Amino acid sequence: MLFQKRKHISILAVVSCALLLVEAHSVSGQTQSVDASDATVPFALPKSGPFTPSDIEIKNDQSITDWFRSAHADAAARAFSHWDGEEEINKVCATCHSGEGFRDFHGLDGTAAGSVEGPINTGGVVDCGTCHNAGLSEIKEVAFPSGLLHPVQGVEASCMTCHQGRTAGITVSTAVADLEIDTPNPELRFINPHYATAAATWLGGYGGSGYHYDGKEYSGRFFHARPVSSCVSCHEPHTLEVAFEPCLTCHQANAPEEIRIARQSYDGSGDTTKGIRADIQANAATLMEMIKAYTADVAEAPVIYDGTRHPYFFADANGDGAIDDSDGRPVVYSAWTPRSLRAAYNWKLVTADPGNYAHNPPYMLELLYDSIEDLSVPLGIDMQSLGVLR
Ligand code: HEC
Ligand code: HEC
Ligand code: HEC
Ligand code: HEC
Ligand code: HEC
Repeated sequence: MLFQKRKHISILAVVSCALLLVEAHSVSGQTQSVDASDATVPFALPKSGPFTPSDIEIKNDQSITDWFRSAHADAAARAFSHWDGEEEINKVCATCHSGEGFRDFHGLDGTAAGSVEGPINTGGVVDCGTCHNAGLSEIKEVAFPSGLLHPVQGVEASCMTCHQGRTAGITVSTAVADLEIDTPNPELRFINPHYATAAATWLGGYGGSGYHYDGKEYSGRFFHARPVSSCVSCHEPHTLEVAFEPCLTCHQANAPEEIRIARQSYDGSGDTTKGIRADIQANAATLMEMIKAYTADVAEAPVIYDGTRHPYFFADANGDGAIDDSDGRPVVYSAWTPRSLRAAYNWKLVTADPGNYAHNPPYMLELLYDSIEDLSVPLGIDMQSLGVLR
């Protein structure tokens, strides 16, 4: 059984893709050999030419088709179209938002490694040459936002570069250093870990992506089990899908999100029949409720979260449950205290990774517990009464 399907067929990618022929061919479900004289073939080929298409072996047919239907090839997605109205992709963003930028960053295009020289054309996607590149094997380590240099091998260098997020726990601790813990500070802005931060989750406490509370210990990289210990051992590298059958060698469940090994209930429900994902989601929901209660009752400046709009946290000064409005624009939240900021950061980090339960459940549960516990103090909530476990 496969899950995680994406069916976008992007015209932009088709046009920019010299491999149009193969795609159109496989989509139409016709036979392997291409007959240029066949009027029903739905793509343009010269009627005659210096080649006979049927004689050309298209080795990469399946890989191209698989990739083409994946999120990596979806040129219309926000992740790739964000810069369409501009001259080029911002250098700060290009590494992860186009194959060309990725090659520039790692010096695979002959420029200096570790920086994007640019200019990087708009319209790029995670193309074949991002992962199929002789230079990739030369990359021995990838730098993470925490400052960690993590050793990598082969294609891992690619996944780790782009799925690491853009911030780390130290980004937060630096921002709040020496500030009064429960005093709103208009200088503080929400710190967004960015998106699809799977590699950051996966490396856990060792990767340093979460805000770590003083005196607490955090689980490191989620080694899982040998056959599923790298990104591409679970994700087919072209479709990006995760096949469920291999999980059943070791787990008993009807779906990945129902997998559970833990015998304790982390969310206070006492239910150990549901997947570990449900515990993570429940504790994330509890944390969000506590962030709302804290901003209303302790910081006395209620916050509202709207996941559809950057920067996601908005003001609700009169506490009526609606985002405040200033000349038709939503008012961005600007009453963060160190305590609310670090909790909101951890909440966003956990929820920014839809695969968190498979990538590193212990680390997720630890970050949620510690954030909940930290907010419980000024709120006067007894942790025991919540039943949440670490
Ligand atoms: C370290 C790699 C990395 C860097 C650097 C980076 N991004 Fe991203 N960004 C990603 C990944 C991975 C996603 C894919 C998330 C997803 O699944 O949609 C993403 C998604 C996005 C999205 C789509 C969000 C959505 O809701 O669909 C936008 C917009 C975006 N990034 C903007 C930027 C901008 C602007 C910059 C530079 C200032 C930037 N990114 C820098 C990795 C990065
Ligand atoms: C996100 C990284 C990534 C991208 C993008 C990518 N590939 Fe791959 N590809 C891989 C990995 C990893 C393997 C090795 C799979 C293995 O060893 O099991 C692979 C294997 C292959 C193979 C060998 C056959 C197979 O399926 O194992 C071919 C052919 C191939 N890729 C072609 C392409 C083409 C053509 C494109 C662009 C249309 C492309 N790949 C894009 C990562 C990628
Ligand atoms: C050059 C940067 C880059 C590299 C390298 C890269 N990714 Fe991505 N990946 C992205 C971006 C950007 C998106 C979001 C695309 C979109 O929203 O359509 C994404 C999306 C995904 C998704 C989400 C699919 C979905 O349906 O939403 C998965 C899973 C994924 N990547 C896994 C991988 C794996 C595994 C590797 C390494 C083999 C890898 N990526 C390498 C940038 C990258
Ligand atoms: C144990 C198997 C496993 C490993 C190893 C693994 N993943 Fe995942 N990943 C999953 C599962 C399961 C999901 C949830 C699938 C879904 O969201 O539908 C997921 C989800 C994702 C998503 C979000 C997809 C979406 O729907 O937006 C991304 C991106 C991703 N993984 C990237 C990676 C990267 C990069 C690595 C390596 C650092 C990695 N994964 C390692 C199993 C795994
Ligand atoms: C070779 C055996 C093996 C395979 C295959 C395997 N797992 Fe696991 N899985 C484990 C082990 C062992 C643990 C416990 C690891 C630990 O806690 O350090 C685990 C833990 C988990 C957990 C956390 C459960 C909990 O209650 O904390 C999830 C979720 C999970 N695996 C998902 C998956 C998915 C999804 C797949 C298939 C893509 C998969 N696993 C494939 C052995 C395996």
